[in-house]
Amino acid sequence: MGDTRFSDQEYIEYLDKSRTSFFWNEDQLGLIFKNIDTGVIHNFLDAGCGLGYFTFLAARFLNKQCDLLGIDIDPKLIKIARRNINKYNFSNVSFEVGDIYNLKAPKGSFDFIAEQLTLLHLEKPEEAIKELLRVLKPGGSLLVIEPNNLAMSVVYNNVTDNLSIEEKIALLSFEMRVQQGKIKAGEGDDNYGDRILELLVKHDMKILDIRLCDKLSPVYPPYDSFEKKRLIKSVRNEHSLYWEKLFKRYYIAAGGLSKEFDKIWKFKKKINKQIERAIINDNYYDIGAGLLYSYLFKKTK
Ligand SMILES: C[S@@+](CC[C@H](N)C(=O)[O-])C[C@H]1O[C@@H](n2cnc3c(N)ncnc32)[C@H](O)[C@@H]1O
Repeated sequence: MGDTRFSDQEYIEYLDKSRTSFFWNEDQLGLIFKNIDTGVIHNFLDAGCGLGYFTFLAARFLNKQCDLLGIDIDPKLIKIARRNINKYNFSNVSFEVGDIYNLKAPKGSFDFIAEQLTLLHLEKPEEAIKELLRVLKPGGSLLVIEPNNLAMSVVYNNVTDNLSIEEKIALLSFEMRVQQGKIKAGEGDDNYGDRILELLVKHDMKILDIRLCDKLSPVYPPYDSFEKKRLIKSVRNEHSLYWEKLFKRYYIAAGGLSKEFDKIWKFKKKINKQIERAIINDNYYDIGAGLLYSYLFKKTK
């Protein structure tokens, strides 16, 4: 079991902070879950559950009698997810170490399977989808939540919107190279959400519901709420050594030069300093938009 990218302390903090409050509007999740007859869902699997936040969200919409299981390859994350069971007080939730490519469950075990933001990190996401379909019961539902992360690169705030066209293109091309490097390194595709429709329809899955997550995370003065403070801290962390090392590895994997990387990284750091200044001066406005798709399918055979 190899993938230790996700148990780095900084990544754990990122997962914790990004998931606890600002990934879904619960009323929208309610609309998604409305497509499912929860009365016939006796068990649920969250594949690649991380710290278990989506498992806990799902538990709010499913019956108390439904058994919810979250699996993740990383024992460190599973340990924290187990601690979260007490915090969120769901006795029908459990967590196990497991590999999405090779699940322990027999064929047709689950009534309902969800995965959120795991496929995009895998070298062979189609293999993982096949495995999920193997353990899904005929007539069961599959919820796939995946993004197009490049879209965020063309959503501007009141600082970045002032950049020139050339600077914006340079930043976009940097992001594209980093994403290409991630694919080349076999660590996933940040825009995998774009591919789900074709893949699942070709697997004879019937579409029940497709939508975009409607949650925005706007930042605007006076930055007093808990959520906004967290976002501001994340702006400050964006250029930590952890992300620099990771992005540089991807950039170089896609044929980029180390010197080029250093130059654009320095430029990105400069922009973030401007953002920090804007925050300090109560003059930072960011709509906090992204592109996160949710696809709900039914297994027909
Ligand atoms: C971005 S996190 C998403 C976690 C969670 N689904 C959420 O939305 O908070 C990706 C997760 O996939 C897990 N993962 C990566 N490869 C895996 C594999 N082969 N089997 C199971 N989980 C895996 C990682 O350990 C990590 O927790």
